[in-house]
Amino acid sequence: MDSHIQSRLSLYARSFENAPSLDELIKIHTEVFGKKGYFAKLFQTLAKESDIDKKKTMGVYLNTEKQKLEQIFGAKQDLFLQQKESIVGDVTVPGNGPSLGKMHIVTSAIEEIRRIYSRIGFYQYSYPEVEWEYFSFEALNMPSDHPARDDFETFFVDGPVSKKYGKMVLTPHTSNGQVREMLRVGKPPIRMINIARCYRPNWDVTHVPMMHQFEGLCIDRGISIQHLKGTMSYFAREFFGYDVKTRLRPHNFEFTEPSFEVDISCIHCNGTGTTDKGKCRICKSGWLELGGSGLVHPNVLKAGGIDSAEYSGWAFGFGIERVAMIKYQIDDIRKLYSGELRYVLEG
Ligand code: DAH
Repeated sequence: MDSHIQSRLSLYARSFENAPSLDELIKIHTEVFGKKGYFAKLFQTLAKESDIDKKKTMGVYLNTEKQKLEQIFGAKQDLFLQQKESIVGDVTVPGNGPSLGKMHIVTSAIEEIRRIYSRIGFYQYSYPEVEWEYFSFEALNMPSDHPARDDFETFFVDGPVSKKYGKMVLTPHTSNGQVREMLRVGKPPIRMINIARCYRPNWDVTHVPMMHQFEGLCIDRGISIQHLKGTMSYFAREFFGYDVKTRLRPHNFEFTEPSFEVDISCIHCNGTGTTDKGKCRICKSGWLELGGSGLVHPNVLKAGGIDSAEYSGWAFGFGIERVAMIKYQIDDIRKLYSGELRYVLEG
């Protein structure tokens, strides 16, 4: 058989098989089978053949090849049509509804914390966000020249200056509520939880200039470290899970004596410090720091008009973003304020 025709036909077979689209496939089909196509020309030439035997064999050959090519074309065409159908899909299936919104992680952590403390008799109270220096520092046993104030880098507000209370600041921590609450209530018992925005001029993986803290204050007769430890364990188990352990690690804060950092056993490696991949990436030591706490310093009770001979109390202050980041394994606090939709959409 004419090798030129053979190779041309196998070229068309490959073109059908490799056609990138239905349009392209139809184009090649016209080129091969169309009125002025390749086969039409071959049959025209064949008609002029005078050798009858040659004409017959050639005729059979061309018709068989034509059928084969039509089959290859048909199979490829079916494939394209099926694909098209699956893209269009079943039009009776309901469409994708809009994603449902949910509370931002920080907002839902605030709600959860408020509920956890309300179950053990703590009420929530709020204090000014634009605050006097006095309630943020002096009343908390940190006079203006005290070096501990360096830890609380502060935004000062261009506002009135008071002889008694000093300048105005954006509150750098929720501890400003401690003495305010003592003065408001007048007489213990106090079981207060203050959840509020705080401000410090920092910006890195663990700090943003506006963050949230929650502060607990419990004052009554006979309050001791045991009550602090018990309440910290209760919170940690409710918020992070029942097998979480809590420890108090000695530290220094001017407004508590003694003072502690509160740690929980790491919820990612179960407090072991290692995972099957080696050292735990989250804690490195088995423990995670939540924040500060301690027994309220007698000078602070005094500033709040409470007699430290009769009453004692504990206080703590933790970052909301911090506890939420531990719970939901978020590695950069700035992500929480990046407008990331995963934090506010269901699913
Ligand atoms: N106010 C402290 C801070 O922002 C945290 C803190 C430590 C609060 C000890 C307390 C406390 O109530 O007792 O770093």
